[in-house]
Amino acid sequence: MTAGDQKKYVGARVSRVDGPAKVRGEATFAAEHDLPGVLHAVLISAACAHGRVSRLDTAAARQVPGVLDVFSHQSDGWNMGKVGGYPRGPAGTSLLPFQGPEISYRGEPVALVVAQTLEAARHAALLVEIEYDRRPHHATLQAALDGPLLARKPLPPLGHSRGKPGRILKHAPHVIERTYDTPVQHHNPMEMHAVIADWDGDERVTIYEPTQWMQSAQGTLAAALGLEPEDVHVVSPFVGGGFGSKATSWPHLLVTALAARVLRRPVKLVLTRAQMFAAVGYRAATRSEYRAALDGPQISALELHAHTQTGPADLFPEQVGMIPKMLYATEHMEFKQTLVQTHAGPNIMMRAPGEASGSFGLEVLMDELAAEAGLDPLEFRRRHHADTDPESGKPFSSKHLLECYDRAAGAFGWERRTPEPGSMKDGDTLIGWGMATAAYPVYASAATARARLHADGRVDVEAGSHDIGTGTYSILAQIAADALGTDLERVTVKLGDSRLPKNGYSGGSRTAGSVGSAVLAAAQGLRQELTDLAVNDPLSPLHGLAPIDIEVRGGALHAGTLRDPLTDILTRAGRDQHETYREIIPSGGGQKELDALKQGQDGMIEAVTDTHARYSFGAVFVEVRVDPDFMTPRVSRIVGAFDIGQVLNAKTAESQLIGGLIWGVSAALHEQGETDPATGLVLNANLADYHIPVNADIGEVRAIALNGHPDFHTSALGARGAGELGIVGTAAAIANAIHHATGKRIRSTPITVDKLLG
Ligand code: MOS
Repeated sequence: MTAGDQKKYVGARVSRVDGPAKVRGEATFAAEHDLPGVLHAVLISAACAHGRVSRLDTAAARQVPGVLDVFSHQSDGWNMGKVGGYPRGPAGTSLLPFQGPEISYRGEPVALVVAQTLEAARHAALLVEIEYDRRPHHATLQAALDGPLLARKPLPPLGHSRGKPGRILKHAPHVIERTYDTPVQHHNPMEMHAVIADWDGDERVTIYEPTQWMQSAQGTLAAALGLEPEDVHVVSPFVGGGFGSKATSWPHLLVTALAARVLRRPVKLVLTRAQMFAAVGYRAATRSEYRAALDGPQISALELHAHTQTGPADLFPEQVGMIPKMLYATEHMEFKQTLVQTHAGPNIMMRAPGEASGSFGLEVLMDELAAEAGLDPLEFRRRHHADTDPESGKPFSSKHLLECYDRAAGAFGWERRTPEPGSMKDGDTLIGWGMATAAYPVYASAATARARLHADGRVDVEAGSHDIGTGTYSILAQIAADALGTDLERVTVKLGDSRLPKNGYSGGSRTAGSVGSAVLAAAQGLRQELTDLAVNDPLSPLHGLAPIDIEVRGGALHAGTLRDPLTDILTRAGRDQHETYREIIPSGGGQKELDALKQGQDGMIEAVTDTHARYSFGAVFVEVRVDPDFMTPRVSRIVGAFDIGQVLNAKTAESQLIGGLIWGVSAALHEQGETDPATGLVLNANLADYHIPVNADIGEVRAIALNGHPDFHTSALGARGAGELGIVGTAAAIANAIHHATGKRIRSTPITVDKLLG
């Protein structure tokens, strides 16, 4: 946008444009698509962590009235092609369903019952008899670390070393060694994973699926079933949360699609809540072993050796080193990561994958080191502020972390903190104040979009991207309305259809910057072309003027007192619409990313480019109140300040940041997958036993998004995204506050009463 343009919506506190449809129940989610003749499927998951199916008897199930078939590895014609698991391939796992009797992980699909009704399918599923030959397994990270080795894989590409940390640690007089653990967490978006597969012949299929990446379904089905990707039409207009679990395709997509092809009827599968704990990835457990050398109040060397859990194949790394490598100015640093295989199923990214778990250890360690150094934890962090990226040596694209510290500390009242643990009380209640730093890498993608103006003034914006609940519909409408000088109400955004202009995975907090910049380019292109029409039209009041002198506002082009409405330009040209399509390469990237996107890959570039290190930053301050007898911690107050570049929508951005902060409370105090090491079963695979905070657990939460710092090294919009940053560091800030309240240093999450009483 050029100076003088309308900037009415971008940055403003705009309510979600899709809100009314959702409130009225008019937003159709995947499983709600009502297809005539649809059959209902129920998936049976392996109750065995490792072994093989020794007996699978479907006779009784087949007797249930309404059952059409029971599919399993015993079915004919279920051989599939090879599918790549994430991160290189489009699927969550390369372990394909029903290819043989082997079981590689607990929860692996073993059979699919399809019936006329859901009731019949569920009843029949209970009658399928399955026995297993069980083999030894490691169901948890701890079991795998303790037990005979399954496989451990060092990850040289993720490692990092600078300076001479080993030598300094060896000779340093003051070395602190600490180990921090984080558990498995399970994504539980409100909307279950679901698929409806509807074939047109044997070669073309429509998939209704809530997804963060439509190309994942296309690529996975194409590879497994030998289809052309464009013959897989994915429809995903609304997604009821994903958090990473819907970033890739899972085996249940394949079995549903194949069943529908065999039966020549549309088939619908909705996973159960329990299956959401087994079949769609999870946040891997991590162990971070630190050694830090202190030279007075300065960290002279830092070493992190991390062990992170993976599934039995594909080895998806929980990137715990991302933030420790770059957050503080430490000249000497080493990071090593080992992947530890387990039979817990394929892990996948989950909101700030690696940054959330990795920041727990780092930010508690910083609190411990500050205490050793005799400094206030905020002051200690300020003294280690990195002016350039310590990992790459490159300048940051834009960094306002010190302002985050100031704003959040000021709003919180940090200067009133007394340093001694247990020194702040309200009556008998122990009060603790803790803080942490947040950072999250800026990813950017190639992106494409189309903008269309109708002669009646309506504007369509089209992008084959997704709104996973973050506000994408709203921000894209705001961007287009501003670029075309029109009212938000006139703009209709279309997302969630694979036939729309191609875009990548909606994750890594990059949709706002990437797809938003493509929409900006398309809308600006549309306006440019309309301007050209006007200045070349003898009947236009703007005829013959230089386009540079023309601005757009109120749905019209303006030059001084001259004015030409956009709709008049179209009408005079005898057109009922005009559309433009634009492709963008990501800032710091090139044609390579755009080509990759067009081939159905992700088209993303990493945070560190040839010229800049690109991160978002934040600071989070927390107050806890702890009952001195029962040691029950409550988070009464959180204030976070965040540097996310240009804020596109103050309301949705704050909502994302607050969501991240609340998840930090969950991580700190509540959340943990409880896996039985003996059987590999997740014992709390339901929302009653898997604890997450409810309203009563959440006190006052305030997220401040800094304004006035657009980052044009990351995107044309200057926006960096807000989806993940809020969770980073928050669990550590709470752990630090609990230490301040109680003097108890708990180095594993969640911080439960038994740990505090122990
Ligand atoms: Mo996210 S874990 O990038 O969906």
